[in-house]
Amino acid sequence: MPQTNNELLCPNLKLYKKGKVREVYDFDDKLLIVATDQISAFDVVLPSLIKGKGIILNRISNFWFEFSKGSIKNHIISTDVETFPAECQEYAETIRDRSVLVWKTEMIELEAIVRGYLSGSGFKDYQKTGQICGIQLPAGLAESAKLGVPIFTPSTKAVEGHDINIPEAELRKQIEGSLIDTIREKSLQLYREAADYALERGIIIADTKFEFGLLNGEVILIDEILTPDSSRFWPTESYRPGQSQKSYDKQIIRDYLAQLDWDKTYPGPQLPDDIIRQTMEKYHDVYNKLKQ
Ligand SMILES: Nc1ncnc2c1ncn2[C@@H]1O[C@H](COP(=O)(O)OP(=O)(O)OP(=O)(O)O)[C@@H](O)[C@H]1O
Ligand SMILES: [Mg+2]
Repeated sequence: MPQTNNELLCPNLKLYKKGKVREVYDFDDKLLIVATDQISAFDVVLPSLIKGKGIILNRISNFWFEFSKGSIKNHIISTDVETFPAECQEYAETIRDRSVLVWKTEMIELEAIVRGYLSGSGFKDYQKTGQICGIQLPAGLAESAKLGVPIFTPSTKAVEGHDINIPEAELRKQIEGSLIDTIREKSLQLYREAADYALERGIIIADTKFEFGLLNGEVILIDEILTPDSSRFWPTESYRPGQSQKSYDKQIIRDYLAQLDWDKTYPGPQLPDDIIRQTMEKYHDVYNKLKQ
């Protein structure tokens, strides 16, 4: 796939949004979301492609949309390129298996984060205040500790930079309370069901982020769900509370980058073929485990 960080996969389609690793195209009341083979590390999109990564991430997300559709409606219209709008067809080979056609929803400006384990910004907040998002946690919890019950720790969708964890009381000034209640309930339910399922297959989903939108006044699940890009996936076999955990998918790249003299700003370094191959094996591994 001839692709650099600046080139779009479907240059003739109307761009809605280019994220770090996905491209979203606008079809009025619908969107086409395409997962590229780009990868980010330390918030920098690297110049190397992980060939096939977008396909696996798309499959993982679609797997979970299918898994959860009995509990909550989602935005998927079709995962089959042949049924996409005519303008997409010239790109059929490029976007096959790495794209979904979805209903465009009214955005709800909220990242519905659920945490089952203490890690990342959640752990940092806990160390400072004993709380995350205003939720008081027991004292003395170790890094990566499993929480007694999963918690809902929403953040705002920051326009620039990192999202900000926001106490629910604060959120209620911006978003209707009943909407937040629905999102909290659905997010916790979905996280619990998915985390239980993954755990039986050797994967800890430590935390995850959902996005919701409004379609004809109804709250539905949008974006991607429960992928290693929107969640922390840890291999159960190496899980050790009291330290940070190895990432299921990005550890090989992080370890490689750590031994370079790179300051974590753009442009990131190229990855050797062997690192790319090993990383891709991890993505296959995650998908195969989930499909068991
Ligand atoms: N069904 C939908 N209706 C409307 N907007 C949607 C829908 N599904 C996803 N989106 C939006 O499309 C965008 C997808 O972009 P993407 O996730 O690639 O980039 P990003 O969130 O801006 O940055 P990052 O790469 O850090 O995730 C997000 O803004 C998401 O909220
Ligand atoms: Mg995003």
